[in-house]
Amino acid sequence: EHRERDKLIEAHELTAKLYNYLLKNTTHGQPALEYLRSRGVTDKQIDQFMIGYAPPQWDTLVRFLEKKQFDPEQMEKGGLFIAKGDGSGYLDRFRDRIMFPIWSREGKVIAFAGRTLGDSQPKYLNSPETVLFNKSGILYNFHQSKTLMRKNRRVVLFEGYMDVIKSWSAGVHNGVASMGTSLTEEHATILQRHADEAIICYDGDNAGQAAVLKTIPLLERAGLKVQVAMLPKGMDPDEYITANGKHLFMKEIIEHPVSVTKFKLLYARKNHILLEEEGRKNYSLEAVGIIARLESPTEREFYLKQLSREVDISLESLKQDCFKHWQQLQKMKPQRDNNDNSWNNGRNEN
Ligand code: CTP
Ligand code: MN
Ligand code: MN
Ligand code: MN
Ligand code: MN
Repeated sequence: EHRERDKLIEAHELTAKLYNYLLKNTTHGQPALEYLRSRGVTDKQIDQFMIGYAPPQWDTLVRFLEKKQFDPEQMEKGGLFIAKGDGSGYLDRFRDRIMFPIWSREGKVIAFAGRTLGDSQPKYLNSPETVLFNKSGILYNFHQSKTLMRKNRRVVLFEGYMDVIKSWSAGVHNGVASMGTSLTEEHATILQRHADEAIICYDGDNAGQAAVLKTIPLLERAGLKVQVAMLPKGMDPDEYITANGKHLFMKEIIEHPVSVTKFKLLYARKNHILLEEEGRKNYSLEAVGIIARLESPTEREFYLKQLSREVDISLESLKQDCFKHWQQLQKMKPQRDNNDNSWNNGRNEN
């Protein structure tokens, strides 16, 4: 069992090197190399992240690993080969794709993601779940980011490979990717062991922003303090860096995350038209519900004041509604901080 895992890791390590070599040194790899360069990926990044290219032939990897005496059946179970339908042998799983190795937390290559150079679907083809690769426990680039993560107790969470790679060269050396948009409880637990704070920097499109909303409670339940680094509408970190440069990315996005409450308020506001009465009213009530979740009376007042200006409703009324929400929440909570009397000061009793 141990030997099998070691063999499979060895095969993955060799495969990553092969793909990296093919990308850099062959004519087949040339279009892939040009594609990467057109996206602003440098030679340095290619080496650091061991980016590679899987050629279009059916059996490049099969022949390469069989020559090195790897058991094809095991390679198939490990996700590198695909068994032919007629049982007559094996094919490479990844063909004509840009290859991103995925590392274990210890820094061993345990899986791959292959990106198409064009528009064919799926955009990313990933290794299946194997004895080595359990997607819900693996974060892309964790092995390289854990040093800084542990040092400043902070992690930056991205969606994708290119986001991590580009932001690394912008200076984010504690960035990992959830490889898609669903972070798991297991991911959150792992992060919590190495960091106290998380900055979510997901794509600025609807899917990304909805994912932020889902990810916040997961990280918070694991005990992390969460902030959100927001991107302009529709942009992802990679696109932002390409359009605006590394410097602005650090200065405007990474170094200016908003609080969870602020994010939720902005997110809620998008669904309402504040110029219309109904929209203003509904947004106000939704916003008050968000603010009511804050433990600190100072923070509640801070956001209520902002809201009051934003929707032009008196602070008094907002406070009263907020208090009702807060009472509801207290009822739902386990008996814990029921002696919180932070509402009594300045409360308007009728
Ligand atoms: N993803 C995936 N399979 C897909 C699409 C996405 O596994 N078919 C994962 C990848 O890890 C991807 C991440 O989800 O990096 C975010 O998806 P998306 O924003 O669509 O892709 P980008 O990372 O922006 O990819 P690119 O910049 O290469 O277009
Ligand atoms: Mn901790
Ligand atoms: Mn996305
Ligand atoms: Mn994206
Ligand atoms: Mn992208």
